[in-house]
Amino acid sequence: MSTPFDLFSFAKRIPATPSIGSTTVTKPDHIHLSFGFAAPHLFPIEQLSRAAYEAVAQHGRKALQYSGSGGPRKILEWIQNRSLVHGIKAELNQIMVTYGSTQGIDLAARMLLDPGDHVWVESPSFFSALQAFRTAEAVITSFPIDEDGLRVDLLENALLEAGRNNKPIPKFIYTMPTYHNPGGVTLSNERRRRLAQLAETYNFFIVEDDAYSELNFSGRKFPPLYTLIPERVIYLNTFSKIIGPGLRLGWMIADKRVIEKARLLNLGGSIGVFTQEILAQLLDGFAFQEHVDQLILHYSEQRDVMAEAVQSSFGDHVTFHLPEGGFYIWLQFGKHVNTSDFLRDAAEMGVSFVDGKSFFAKQEGYPYARLCFSYVSEEQIVRGVNILADAYFAYEEQRLFGLTKQQPL
Ligand SMILES: Cc1ncc(COP(=O)(O)O)c(C=O)c1O
Repeated sequence: MSTPFDLFSFAKRIPATPSIGSTTVTKPDHIHLSFGFAAPHLFPIEQLSRAAYEAVAQHGRKALQYSGSGGPRKILEWIQNRSLVHGIKAELNQIMVTYGSTQGIDLAARMLLDPGDHVWVESPSFFSALQAFRTAEAVITSFPIDEDGLRVDLLENALLEAGRNNKPIPKFIYTMPTYHNPGGVTLSNERRRRLAQLAETYNFFIVEDDAYSELNFSGRKFPPLYTLIPERVIYLNTFSKIIGPGLRLGWMIADKRVIEKARLLNLGGSIGVFTQEILAQLLDGFAFQEHVDQLILHYSEQRDVMAEAVQSSFGDHVTFHLPEGGFYIWLQFGKHVNTSDFLRDAAEMGVSFVDGKSFFAKQEGYPYARLCFSYVSEEQIVRGVNILADAYFAYEEQRLFGLTKQQPL
C-alpha cells in the first residue's frame, strides 16, 4: 500500500543522509567517545538558576514578547569585551547573536552561496558545515591539513591554477584554524598571514569557525584570522563549549554590511531572547576567566588521559596529533583500515566513536576515527579506549586471517 510520502517529493536540496556517522547508542553503560559534548558537571548550574530567576523576575515580560530588536545589549557588550581579549575589535552593529555557531555557518552559506557556487574546506572538516554547504547546493572542494593546519600552499596553488585557467574561485573558505574539529591541529601564524593575503588578492571570504579558542591548554596564542583581515572574515563563535550547548547561543562578527544581510535571512526575529536574558544575567558579574580556567584544567587532563590510553592500547597501529585545545583526538589508522567496519562491533562492545568518513566531503576518510575526551570520565576514557582497541584488533585479526570470534588462533 502506498503512503502519502510515496506520492510526494521533498525538495532536492535536502541531504540524503544525516551529517554524522556516529552510532545510535541505547545501552545505559555505553561509553560515548563519539559525543562532542561539554562536561555536564562543569555547567554553572547554581549561577544559572539564580540568573534564570532574576532574568524572569526583571525582564520576563519583555523577553517573552516577540522581539524585533537585537536581544539584550549586555550580551553584545560582553561579546565585544571578550573578543577584545583575543584581539578582535568590533562595533556592536558588527555582532549578531546566532542560534549556536551552527546557525552562523548556515547563514554564511545562505548569504554567500547560490547553487553551483564553490566553497573550499579543510579535509577533514566539521560535518555540520559540510551538510550546510551541501544543502546550499554548493560545489565543495577539500584541501588537506597537517600538523600546522590547513595546507595553505596547496590552496594557493589551486587559486593560481584557477586564475590561469579561468576556473571558479571559491566564494568562501570555511576553516577551523584553532583546535580543529576533528583534526585537533592549529593553523600556524605564517599560514594565517598567507591565507589572509590570498583572501584579499583573490577576493573571497573566510568563514572562521572559532568554537574552541577559549579552551587553550598550552597558553600559546594565535591571532584570529578576523584580526588579520576583518573585512574578509565572517567570524563565528559559541557559548556551547564555554557555558553549555543547550543554550543554543553563539555569535557572528563581521563587517556591518554582512551582518545586515544575515539579519535579512534570519526569519522569526532575534534568537532566543528569553534565553539571552538568562545568559546576560549570568554573565553579569560572573567570574568568566576563572570558569574558563577550570574548563581548561579539566579538559587538558582528560586529553592527557586519552592520549596515554591510546598510546598504550594501540601502540604504533595509530598516529595522532596531540591537540593544544578543544575536545578531540583524531586517530589515523593504516591505509587498509576502514573504521566503519568495526564501528558497529565497538558499539556492541559498549563504546561509540565517530567514523572518519563523516568529516570528508566525499566520504573518503575511511582510516580515521574521532574520539572525544570532553564528555566522559577519566575512568571511562581508559576503559572506552581499551574496548575500542579490542574491537580494532579483533577486526584486524578477522581481516588478516579471516577468523571469527568463535575460531580463536
Ligand atoms: C567546529 C565546530 N563548529 C560549530 C559547532 C557547533 O556549535 P554550536 O553548538 O554553537 O552550534 C561545533 C560543535 O561541535 C564545532 O565543533
